[in-house]
Amino acid sequence: MPQTPHVAVVSLDDLTPLRQDLYAAIAAATDMAVLEDIRVNVLGKKGRITELMKTLGQLDADQRKAFGAALNVLKSDITDQINSKQKEFAEASLRTRLEKERLDITLSCRPQPEGRIHPISQTIDEITTLFASMGFTVAKGPDIESDHTNFTLLNIPPDHPARQMQDTFYLPQTGEHPSVLRTQTSPVQIRTMMTQKPPIRIIAPGRTYRCDYDMTHTPMFHQVEGLVIDEATHMGHLKGCLMDFLRAFFGIKDLPIRFRPSYFPFTEPSAEVDIGCSRRNGELKLGAGDDWLEILGCGMVHPNVLKNCGLDPERYQGFAFGMGIERITMLKYGIPDLRTFFEADLRWLKHYGFLPFDMPNPALKV
Ligand code: DAH
Repeated sequence: MPQTPHVAVVSLDDLTPLRQDLYAAIAAATDMAVLEDIRVNVLGKKGRITELMKTLGQLDADQRKAFGAALNVLKSDITDQINSKQKEFAEASLRTRLEKERLDITLSCRPQPEGRIHPISQTIDEITTLFASMGFTVAKGPDIESDHTNFTLLNIPPDHPARQMQDTFYLPQTGEHPSVLRTQTSPVQIRTMMTQKPPIRIIAPGRTYRCDYDMTHTPMFHQVEGLVIDEATHMGHLKGCLMDFLRAFFGIKDLPIRFRPSYFPFTEPSAEVDIGCSRRNGELKLGAGDDWLEILGCGMVHPNVLKNCGLDPERYQGFAFGMGIERITMLKYGIPDLRTFFEADLRWLKHYGFLPFDMPNPALKV
């Protein structure tokens, strides 16, 4: 670019060619570096406009005022020109980058996964979703328990039939008490009450074990336990909570539900819960009809159990429930034989299992 001659005094008219000259140079700039050169040559410490500014002192007052103002206008116009050219370059370079770094969304998708979500996992997921929406968290306990937590602390007397060798898998004793494969998820109640302060609101899904094998029993099966302990929890809460759960789980808004008095050593009073159904021509239909189907056991936590866990029954109370996961899965998804759950037959899994992106979600139906 031509250098500005160092003139002592410049008239207003002299600025017009300079303006044209600079405009042309800016318009002709091919990239950021050229533009930056122009900026330094014009507005930098020794730039053309800066030099002209320095001559102002040699003018008389009137001239200085007029010429100073004109110079300022020119300076700001040139700055604007440079800035807008800079913006143009930045946008152009972004456009080229976007063009170049384009995502190829025509890439063919990966093959469909062969695997399926097992119906048990699916049901546990559904149960967890529904109870989580009621403020429950998930608690866990080990599959190997002592008979102390599996039975004794749950107020199950030493001579109770459930403890018998035929029902319970006893393991070689390692600690103070005989070891067992847990026959129920109820010991998670004990573990929770011994380690957490009320208010307690947990569910505990997991594996359980009993010596049994037929159409409706396998030696390993799944249960979900529930426990709520607070200072004023009552039977109404128990009923409301389980009714809401069952209606949402089975997706039947007006599902008939019956609480039938029953007995469990760890609850008082205890109840079994039935849901309404019909059985016509050997076909089971949930929700309507004149028949009942037992679904789960529940009750108000027995004061002895609270005491065993160090909680004062005068201050705390609550409810518990226990449910067989296979059973409600079979009912919901029409699976006739319990044993097939654990035969690892891929044809069965393909039929009854769920694709990972196509799982039913009961929360959407509530
Ligand atoms: N543990 C019981 C069973 O395996 C089920 C059960 C019934 C659990 C009542 C509970 C309950 O928490 O309150 O048969």
